[in-house]
Amino acid sequence: MIGVLVSGEGTNLQALVEAGLPITAVASNRRDAPALARASCATAAFELSEFPDRTARDRAMADWLEQQGVRLVVLAGYMHLLTPAFLERFPGAVVNVHPSLLPAFPGAHAVEEQLAAGVAESGASVHLVDEGVDSGPVLAQERVPVLDGDTPETLHERIKSVEHRLLPEVVRELCAR
Ligand code: GAR
Repeated sequence: MIGVLVSGEGTNLQALVEAGLPITAVASNRRDAPALARASCATAAFELSEFPDRTARDRAMADWLEQQGVRLVVLAGYMHLLTPAFLERFPGAVVNVHPSLLPAFPGAHAVEEQLAAGVAESGASVHLVDEGVDSGPVLAQERVPVLDGDTPETLHERIKSVEHRLLPEVVRELCAR
């Protein structure tokens, strides 16, 4: 059973849903995340401001996911770092999708930073999550060209169209293990 963590639009969540993967729970650090409305399963928000600290928030989120029967956690545009308190509850079973060819350009502004650096090629990466920022072993990666005149929006859309295929493929493989 899959739990998905989201913070934003949720187009990757949508791709996972459309791939028919067994998603039982969707959680967010933002109560107003548009992604939550794309879920037809149980949803919950765990806003940092409602807990004493990040560890307490992550413990509560892990408890809730476990109650929903989650065994594999997919970060689909989840923009907070996860603490050890969360990761130790799902050892080796947390994956993330990121809009660059990791380990290049980790972080929350990867698309803007790649354009500013003038790279000719970007990409999408799916990787196992550890305590670092978009670090952890890469499971799958695909290249995406950067075109003349690209804006952060046009490049990100091109990357996302690859993410929407790559992420469900990797998650399906992990479920089959
Ligand atoms: C995706 O492009 C994902 O790779 C990125 O956020 C976007 C979420 O889009 N994640 C990161 O940058 C993680 N560091 P979505 O909400 O439409 O799926």
